[in-house]
Amino acid sequence: MSDDHDHHDGNDEHELRVSKIRDGTVIDHVRGGQALNVLAILGIDGSDGEEVSVGMNVPSDRLARKDIVKVEGRELSQDEVDVLSLIAPDATINIVRDFDVVEKHRVERPDIVEGVLSCPNAGCITTGNEPVTSRFTVLEDGVRCAYCGTIVRDEIASLIDT
Ligand code: CTP
Ligand code: ZN
Repeated sequence: MSDDHDHHDGNDEHELRVSKIRDGTVIDHVRGGQALNVLAILGIDGSDGEEVSVGMNVPSDRLARKDIVKVEGRELSQDEVDVLSLIAPDATINIVRDFDVVEKHRVERPDIVEGVLSCPNAGCITTGNEPVTSRFTVLEDGVRCAYCGTIVRDEIASLIDT
């Protein structure tokens, strides 16, 4: 390393598409094309004036192409991270304070997600009037309703309870 930056991946200077943030969360190594779903999971649509930067399909060492989402002034809840892990299994969550990354962790896929997603099957007991909390088993490539067996692979973000 020849200067004051950590250049371990060699081309930071060329890869930096969106500016650094001061305080907040950087969700990095999101699968290419999933950034808008990340925003949906976080309930961010810009209408509350949130300061958000998004990079889509930027070159990455670890993934062929990655998306990156930077949210100022916000740290994520465990529920949010659990759901993120379903659409962005390789994501890194970086907590930034005063411009420094003070915490970095990979998301972990839970075995089960409860009460976060709603089943797309209108006939499912969890979508009727019964007081049954939704429960999905996390699969390699999707989620499966523990009650009716419905499997969702590509549209997980659309199941998020809002
Ligand atoms: N970042 C940012 N604002 C900061 C600090 C970091 O937006 N004030 C971003 C960086 O641009 C990078 C991510 O947060 O996308 C992680 O930063 P850092 O740990 O410094 O980068 P790397 O070492 O390359 O991360 P990794 O090893 O996880 O790829
Ligand atoms: Zn169901």
